[in-house]
Amino acid sequence: MMRMVLLGAPGAGKGTQCKRIVERYGVLHLSSGDILRNERAKETELGKKAESYMDSGGLVPDEVIVAMMADAVEETGESGFVLDGFPRTVNQASQLDNSLVSKNKQIDIVLNLKIDDRLVMERMTGRRSCPKCGAVYHVKNLKPKVEGKCDKDGAELVQRPDDAAEVVATRLKTYHQQTEPVADYYRENGNICDIVAEGNVDEITSLIFEQLNTFDKV
Ligand code: AP5
Repeated sequence: MMRMVLLGAPGAGKGTQCKRIVERYGVLHLSSGDILRNERAKETELGKKAESYMDSGGLVPDEVIVAMMADAVEETGESGFVLDGFPRTVNQASQLDNSLVSKNKQIDIVLNLKIDDRLVMERMTGRRSCPKCGAVYHVKNLKPKVEGKCDKDGAELVQRPDDAAEVVATRLKTYHQQTEPVADYYRENGNICDIVAEGNVDEITSLIFEQLNTFDKV
């Protein structure tokens, strides 16, 4: 029943690792980016509001995100979950805490994936994903069996528009200015552990599971 947050720069591997955490610990995966992309695909008001912020590499305003994620968290009921991409500002983090406390809940553990900016650029510009099932690949590091096709459903893989190099540079700047302070917030108000996320996917998964297993036994 763990409630977790996975923090980290764009391309730190949050989505990749969340899928493995879900498989191993049976928690629900709540990705703010995936929810926003889904809203955009359905052309909802929320999706339309988010569009310009996402495409330019900025952050969608807090009031929009906090309400959206409060609904998503509410739907988890008593299940455990892992938050991916939220909170991304100190204000989002404190509002999340307030809303959990009012329900006698809390974030049990925050995993902070740390990665150098130069690796981020390589990972983001090489990322490809499946528009049908959401599986994520990389042109060099995590190749599909057949080039350009999803292993699970054979769909044509696509590149996210915000993975263009100039947008990634803005996303990184936004991360350093607005999201890095969230780690300090949790250092003061929570249980956070830093994980160097520069090795291969399996190595990072082992480091994460080590932390989660230790926590699980406490
Ligand atoms: P979002 O979708 O959350 O993007 P992000 O945080 O920038 O994270 P990414 O999904 O790009 O990266 P990731 O860390 O999940 O990496 P991945 O595992 O895919 O947000 C998009 C936008 O929505 C934001 O810019 C913002 O506008 C808006 N938004 C979302 N949440 C918001 C919020 N809370 N507040 C305001 N606005 C919000 O890996 C990347 C690539 O690297 C893949 O190809 C993968 O195969 C590869 N890879 C992964 N791990 C490794 C490894 N260990 N070694 C080699 N390659 C690896």
